[in-house]
This record gives sequence, structure tokens and C-alpha cells, in this order.
Amino acid sequence: MLSGRKALVTGAARGIGKGIALEFAKNGCDVFVADIDLPPLEKTVAEITALGRDCGCLKVDVSSEDDMRSLVEKTVARFGRLDILAHAAGILRSCSVAEQDAADWDRVVAVNLRSSFLLAKYAGARMMSQKYGKMVFIDSCASKTGEAFNAVYCASKAGVRLLAHSLALELAEHNINVNSIAPGTIDTDMIRSCLQGAAVRSHLRGVSPPVQRIHPPETHGHPRGGGQARRLPRLRQRRLHHRRLDEHLRRPRSALRMC
Ligand SMILES: NC(=O)c1ccc[n+]([C@@H]2O[C@H](COP(=O)([O-])OP(=O)(O)OC[C@H]3O[C@@H](n4cnc5c(N)ncnc54)[C@H](O)[C@@H]3O)[C@@H](O)[C@H]2O)c1
Repeated sequence: MLSGRKALVTGAARGIGKGIALEFAKNGCDVFVADIDLPPLEKTVAEITALGRDCGCLKVDVSSEDDMRSLVEKTVARFGRLDILAHAAGILRSCSVAEQDAADWDRVVAVNLRSSFLLAKYAGARMMSQKYGKMVFIDSCASKTGEAFNAVYCASKAGVRLLAHSLALELAEHNINVNSIAPGTIDTDMIRSCLQGAAVRSHLRGVSPPVQRIHPPETHGHPRGGGQARRLPRLRQRRLHHRRLDEHLRRPRSALRMC
């Protein structure tokens, strides 16, 4: 179902976003990739091009409305349409609420939640005119349970989940399918920096079961759940609220499953 589709992936310079972009390309998508960090993003472009797929890229700050409008415009200018949006750009700032300053709070909400609204607005307008589209947002298991030292992250991701839920209801009549996926703990730069502090790590192990098993980024990018995912004998995807990307993309437009 991915072959020939035109996809836009944010946060594609590394981690989960890069994993999704490469798996889309391996399965026949042309992919436009975006990130704030240009040099590694260009490596992603080279890897996708080497797979024989068309790929464009843009340096963006996903919290900027001008950047998000321009990103959707450039994707459509290159490919002629936009079938799939996967929004993986995000940030985590681990500290206690007492130590967090308001500017830091605003930045996390802007990068994680405001960006999701902006992309939904501009990508959604294009998809409505096509009468077809798939949007996948990434929230987090932590957004349901909450986590000490990650209050703003959890709050922003809970917002992403409910934004996706609301969009799914709003856009279904336009043949646009919206979902959010809630990863457990994936082995990326984000999680490595979060787990550096022994006290935080020890606390998270106590309150958050998914953090006890750390998965590779391909767990979410691989559309058939093969490769690395199959080699993890105790992945326990349901229990950990994992959903493979293709499950979301295949769901009927009226069916929303929140992870
Ligand atoms: N790694 C996990 O365990 C985990 C768990 C749950 C949810 N998530 C979510 O998955 C998504 C991807 O996380 P990851 O682990 O791959 O993180 P990561 O830090 O490895 O990658 C995030 C990417 O987003 C980009 N980015 C950050 N701010 C940006 C901005 N303002 N504009 C454009 N790009 C920006 C970064 O440059 C980076 O390439 C995030 O939304 C994260 O919250 C991750």
C-alpha cells in the first residue's frame, strides 16, 4: 500500500523519524524529509536516493508557522501531492517542575504540540483537496501515565494524542485517516540523553514498565514489523502499546485506535 505514495517525514535526521523515512522509501514511497539539523538530514536524503526513490529535504523549525506552510508547499511542488504525513520531530527536557523555567516549558510545547497543529492545518488542507491522506503523529506511553521529571513532555504528548483523536473525527469525511502512535522506549539520542542521570533512570524503571526494555528505532519504522522487531522475542507490542506504522495506515478511515 506504500508503493508510489508521496510522504513527508519530520524529525528525519535521526532516530524514529529517520527509521520511518527509510522504511517508507524501502517500500516504494518518495519521501520529503525535514529537520532542524541539516547535515544529518542530508545523509538521510543520500540513503533514500540510494534506494532509488525521489527525496527532497528542507531545514525547518517545526514550531514555526512559516516553516510548516513552506514545508507542505515544497513537498507538493516536488511530488505533485502529499499522501502521508509522519510527524516525528520532538524534544524532551527532563527536569523537575520546580527547576523548569517557563521559556523551556513553552519551547517543549511549541516543538511537540504546536507543530502538530501546524502540520495538521497545512497538510490537512492539501489532503482535503485530494480527498485522500494519512497522518501519523507520535505521542508516548508516558503521556498516559505521567512521569516524574518529564511533566512538560508528558503534557505535550497527551495534547498530541488528543489532537490526533479530534482530527480523526474531524477529517474522516474527507477520506483522511489520522492516528497517533505511542512508543515505549526506543534506543535513540533522545532516550540516551534522558537516561544519563542514574536517579532519573532508577525512578523511571520503577514507574514505567516500557522503559525496562529498550527497542531499536526500526521497531516503529518497519511497515511489516520484520527485521529487528521480529528478533525481539519479548517485544510484547500490545502490552507496551506499540503499534506498527502500517497497521495505522491500513485502518479504515472511520476507525480510530488510540495507543
Ligand atoms: N525514543 C523514545 O523512546 C520515544 C518514546 C516515545 C515517543 N518518542 C517520540 O518520538 C519522536 C522521535 O523521537 P526520537 O527518539 O527519534 O528523538 P531524536 O532526538 O533521536 O530525534 C528527534 C529529531 O527531531 C529533530 N528536531 C528536534 N527539534 C526540532 C525542531 N524544532 N524542528 C525540526 N526538527 C526538530 C531533531 O533534530 C531530531 O532529528 C519524538 O516526537 C519523541 O517525543 C520517542
